[in-house]
Amino acid sequence: MTDFTREVAEAMDARDPLSACRGWFMLPPDVIYLDGNSLGALPGATPKRVARVVEDWGRDLIGSWNHHDWIGWPRRVGDRIARLIGAEPGEVIVADSTSINLFKLLTASLELNPGRRTILSEVDNFPTDLHVAQGLRRLLGEQIDLRTMEASRLPAALDSDVLVLMLTHVNYRTGAMHDMAALTAAARRVGALTLWDLSHSAGAMPLALNAAGVDLAVGGGYKFLNGGPGAPAYLFVAKRWIERIQPALAGWMGHARPFDFDTSYAPASGIERLLVGTPPVISLAALDVGIELFEQVDLRLVRAKSIALGTLFRHLVTQECAGLGLTLVSPADAGQCGSQVSYAHSDGYAVIQALIERQVIGDFRGPDVMRFGFAPLYVRHVDVFDAVLALRDVLKTRAWDQPRFHLRALVT
Ligand SMILES: Cc1ncc(COP(=O)(O)O)c(C=O)c1O
Repeated sequence: MTDFTREVAEAMDARDPLSACRGWFMLPPDVIYLDGNSLGALPGATPKRVARVVEDWGRDLIGSWNHHDWIGWPRRVGDRIARLIGAEPGEVIVADSTSINLFKLLTASLELNPGRRTILSEVDNFPTDLHVAQGLRRLLGEQIDLRTMEASRLPAALDSDVLVLMLTHVNYRTGAMHDMAALTAAARRVGALTLWDLSHSAGAMPLALNAAGVDLAVGGGYKFLNGGPGAPAYLFVAKRWIERIQPALAGWMGHARPFDFDTSYAPASGIERLLVGTPPVISLAALDVGIELFEQVDLRLVRAKSIALGTLFRHLVTQECAGLGLTLVSPADAGQCGSQVSYAHSDGYAVIQALIERQVIGDFRGPDVMRFGFAPLYVRHVDVFDAVLALRDVLKTRAWDQPRFHLRALVT
């Protein structure tokens, strides 16, 4: 691929089997949105669906829990997510945040794998995953230990003391992707459980949790699943374990008969036992729209497009931005990466702000990483082309070097 032109990008879009999917989203016309790995775009059907639920609430009031089966939504939406991640219906439930679901499943792992104490993880895991483990360590003291290390050292660190291997499948900062099947098999060989965080994978590629023998997983609803800001998260428990879990974070919605109001906790018989409190119905309605879209697409095509966009971005940066201070921090091969590409730049924050002013939206992760995400349902090849030209221009002209671009907002 030398001298790649905009016409070539247009031709790639014309051949894209997913090109029609972009029309499912409400994107501002002049914006190039390369942050769907952080907050997915708004599906066009969401406002009406949310409005309908609000109308149901106004008209049918509390009866809606039964009439509109609101009470069944965490499981129903969970079953839809199961299809995206290679799980069975009844193994996934939508609830709470990813962080809280991590707590639920880490505490569950203590029960499922007694006599072991090490939570093994990656030093560069997403902070919340490590914070939850650190909090648990403070709570339980010597009963558990948290060991973190570079990804390459993980296989050798798996030993008979490892309770659970807790990893994020696709690294939030670099996009580097673990070999889920190989690491899960290696963990199993030493009797360790696996707990995968799928936040940056689900909706961007096919996943095969059961085929890989994964024990536990969590993930968020607001990134590639397009559930909206603060969308509820989900958790997966392999069928073989569900009935063995006595939730530490027990709550009435996980009770076998919540409306018996029995003051002693008795877990529900299925994955519902991992519910805690009342489901966020309006947010669930929005998430359901985002998930539903995936019923019309083949995730293999989604992954193929994600790799094509990532490869194109890398190639164009090499072609257009050589000598402009960028260092690739993602794997060079888009096939080893999730649906994003990241570059380090000493003034990365300011560069991202200058790009945003030009309507090219990526984001920044300290200390110096610029992230560009490719949500395959709505990012086009021409968007990648135009984004790289904007990046080149911002770098070449030092347009980023203005005081307003250095002012750090709370959210980066
Ligand atoms: C890998 C990963 N895990 C967890 C989270 C946080 O999830 P939540 O805010 O739902 O707890 C994020 C947020 O970006 C993430 O990237």
